[in-house]
Amino acid sequence: MSSLNSRPAEVLRASDLRVPGDKSITHRALILGALAEGESLIRDRLKSDDCEATLAALRACGVGFEDGADGLRIQGVGPGVGPGVGPGVGPGVNSGGLQAPSGELDFGNSGTAMRLMCGVLAGQSLDATLIGDASLSRRPMRRVVKPLREMGADISAVGDDDTPPLVVRKAARRLTAADYSMRVASAQVQSCLLLAGLHAEGETCVRTAESARVSMRDHMLRMLKRFGADLTLETNSAEDERGEDGFPEGDYVMNGVRLRPGALHGVEFRVPGDFSSAIFFIVAATLVPGSELVLKDVGVNPTRTAALDILKSMGADISVRNPRRRDLEPTADIHVRAASLRGVDIPRESVANAIDDFPALFVAAACAEGVTRLRDADELRRKESDRIATMAEGLRACGVDVSVDGGGADIRGAGAPPSGGRVDGAGDHRVCMAFLVAGAASKQGVTVDNCEHIATSFPGFTALANAVGMQISPA
Ligand code: S3P
Repeated sequence: MSSLNSRPAEVLRASDLRVPGDKSITHRALILGALAEGESLIRDRLKSDDCEATLAALRACGVGFEDGADGLRIQGVGPGVGPGVGPGVGPGVNSGGLQAPSGELDFGNSGTAMRLMCGVLAGQSLDATLIGDASLSRRPMRRVVKPLREMGADISAVGDDDTPPLVVRKAARRLTAADYSMRVASAQVQSCLLLAGLHAEGETCVRTAESARVSMRDHMLRMLKRFGADLTLETNSAEDERGEDGFPEGDYVMNGVRLRPGALHGVEFRVPGDFSSAIFFIVAATLVPGSELVLKDVGVNPTRTAALDILKSMGADISVRNPRRRDLEPTADIHVRAASLRGVDIPRESVANAIDDFPALFVAAACAEGVTRLRDADELRRKESDRIATMAEGLRACGVDVSVDGGGADIRGAGAPPSGGRVDGAGDHRVCMAFLVAGAASKQGVTVDNCEHIATSFPGFTALANAVGMQISPA
């Protein structure tokens, strides 16, 4: 078991802190680069265990990748339409496409990799078995397997929740386009179905059911457009609120998206810093008195940054400066200074937008004065761990008063640093990093057990954290 100890920090300071590339964007860039015709060049990709699992799976399916000084070059294999007639090819002709892998495809800890690749593989003419580690083997795949089966995919899985391993078999016919209404606000489900739709017969429509209409990350849609896909968005924003690229300037709700199949074309693409990695430093600098950090080149796509609004409503001193649009993704520098926080009711409509940022937000709430109330966050129970349970247990072990209420929690902060203690990181990268931040802000430090998966999303976290003033060492 790997354990880390985070001692109370004196002060955190940096004027040029850069977090690694965005995980969601990197997965998608690898996949679309592989499916496109021609070469793509991806700069500043995240080289984490999760994203490398996607890369290894694509390589096992015959895609060529070459790492160079200027980035990762991907030799796209083209559409590969499976059985039947494909876009721009004759009957029964396979215009490239992925090859059947010779062994199992191991997605390690990554739910995103497995769900997205399941959509890719279902549309190809091949057999593949998708496996994962103990945590991934417990995660529900029904949300993607069910609609893919409705499109004609042949996929078997385990039990009622369709957990991994997933076995994809060559479908008898080309997939039929879906007209599917998602009942959970899940970017993974939407992305999976659009990836399958790239190779399906007809127009794929992924709608969001009325009850699930909230802000949700739109990286797949931006990137599909960048690679040349024929995509129509139905949003709650007026046409004139959209930027030149067709995406709303601010946060918005996606009612549905339509995709017509067609070839993608290789592109050059730069991946911005991951906001959900930056959040650990944003919270740490807020909580450790006297701190000041400038985080450079962070992705600030409005469908990802609700956590900033939540922190600001709690009293955090954060400003987003030098905003620019790089390769379709809004990017900026984030300045943060220490501040005292107060508890708030987290708006229900922000939950999906901030879904990966709750471990860090729980720690902020634990140090705030008064109650922070979270509701309608059941999806947190289905991440790399049950994040409501793991965060509540760990915070209690650090002397914080937390009660769990189904898909939510009440965190009663004392407006003072938590005492500290020993907690279980549960092998969940974001839970581990959140408790290491809690240690920096605590009175006596925090020891976090089961830290072995931090490199899932943030290789080099400990070194970077120590470089700005945190004090993390092996326990
Ligand atoms: C992701 C979407 C989110 C998020 C995950 C990455 C993605 O999951 O929690 O870490 O890249 O699409 P859901 O969309 O299933 O909520």
